[in-house]
Order: sequence, then C-alpha cells, then structure tokens
Amino acid sequence: MSGSCTEDTARVVDGVMRARRSLRAYRPEPVPRALLEELLAVACTAPSNSNTQPWRVHAVAGAALRSMGDALVAAFRENRLPPSPHFPDPLPEEHAQRQREFGAVYYRSLGIDPTDMPARMRQTEKNFHFFGAPVGLIFTIDARLAPHSWLDLGLLVQNVMIAASARGLGTCPQVSFARFHPVIAQHLALREHELTVCGMSLGYPERDAPVNRLAMPRREVGEFASFQGFRAA
Ligand SMILES: Cc1cc2nc3c(=O)[nH]c(=O)nc-3n(C[C@H](O)[C@H](O)[C@H](O)COP(=O)(O)O)c2cc1C
Repeated sequence: MSGSCTEDTARVVDGVMRARRSLRAYRPEPVPRALLEELLAVACTAPSNSNTQPWRVHAVAGAALRSMGDALVAAFRENRLPPSPHFPDPLPEEHAQRQREFGAVYYRSLGIDPTDMPARMRQTEKNFHFFGAPVGLIFTIDARLAPHSWLDLGLLVQNVMIAASARGLGTCPQVSFARFHPVIAQHLALREHELTVCGMSLGYPERDAPVNRLAMPRREVGEFASFQGFRAA
C-alpha cells in the first residue's frame, strides 16, 4: 500500500495535519452517528503495542451531553475533587515556559487579562460543555495498564482528530475531564477498571470565532530532534 503513495498523497495528508487546530467554538448542527462511526472505524487503524488496542471511546450527544456537562460544571464549581496530576508540580521550567506562552496567546485571543482569575475560571468551565460542540468524546483506558499503553490511546486520539479535520469537523482534545473521572464514571456507567484519560469536543466549527483563529507556535525541528550518522547534504 505505502508503495502507491504519491507526492499528491503527501500534500493532502500534510495539509490535513497542518490545518488541524484545537477549536473552542462550534456551530450547533448535529454530527450524524454514522459519520462518527466512520471516523472511529478509520481512527482505530492506529497501531498499538502487541495490537492490544487498549482504548475505549464514549460518544455523547443531546440530552446525555447536557446532563453530563451540567454535572461536570457543578463539580468544577464545588472544587471538591483533588486536582488531576496531569502535570508535575512544579512543572520543569522548559515546559512551564511554553505553558505560560500558551496561556498568554490563548487568553489574549479571548480578551481575558491572564491575571483575571474569575474570567479564566469562566473560560475553563466551558471545557465541561465541550465548548458548545454537539458531540463530546470521552477516552478511557484500563487503569491496570502501564504508561506505554497510554501512548497507544494517544495515537487513536490523534487519528480521530485528523480524520475529523479531513471531513471539515473541528476537535479539541481536553485533559480537563481527567479530574472529574468519578462524575464521568457515574454518567457513562464505566467499567470497574476504566479510567478517564481525556475528552474531546467534536463538531462543525465556528470559523469566525477569534478563539478558533489561534495558531500555536511550534519549536523548530532542530530544537527537539538530533541526527547522527547521516551524510552531509
Ligand atoms: C492531551 C491534551 C490535552 C489537552 N487539554 C486541553 C484542555 O483541557 N482544554 C483545552 O482547551 N485545550 C486542551 N488541549 C489543547 C492544547 O492546548 C493544544 O493542543 C495546544 O495548545 C496546541 O494547539 P493546537 O492543538 O491548536 O495546535 C489539550 C491538548 C492535548 C494534546
């Protein structure tokens, strides 16, 4: 199969990868279930260690989405659940610096002063209604697995975003849900060992929303990659 790939294929695939962004404002049009199943059928071609395919995906829409979102917002406001340790505290400085840069760009796009904590909280809260998207996805993994299996799940998550982007759909991956696993487990009747890794907003994007026009910078290849044993060009 790979032998049949052409420069055109590369251009199309690269174009879809480069066009994908985290989108945080959506139009209300529903996403048909058949389209979602098509996305997941292509996304699950992701590789996984020993083909274990350790992912589970819960797609939520309509009244179920609203009710889960309301419960998550209530839990967020109550602030009772312990913070999810998805970053260490303190975050090593090289990563913390990029996190600060993200915050500055993100809040500027929303007209929020980064020191205005109530405004930031109101924006963070929007995560829990999936930024108004008609579909919310919750990705879970068997909690008994080791961190390497989370890599498999990440590959599936990226495939979902790429397949969605290729079909004109927008997405936003969201770790914000991890902290609220107990609320999600109850709403989705998760299995005993299932753990919430992340969520994802999915829907037709509001193209004109300033928050959807963010282009988050990337490090240059030379900054994060090293090459040994290659001939000089
Ligand atoms: C694992 C993961 C978790 C994320 N969690 C959130 C989140 O909870 N809320 C949010 O608004 N964005 C979240 N994002 C989106 C990132 O902020 C975004 O990917 C990053 O700033 C790069 O921007 P881009 O996706 O538009 O290229 C997350 C991304 C990843 C990969």
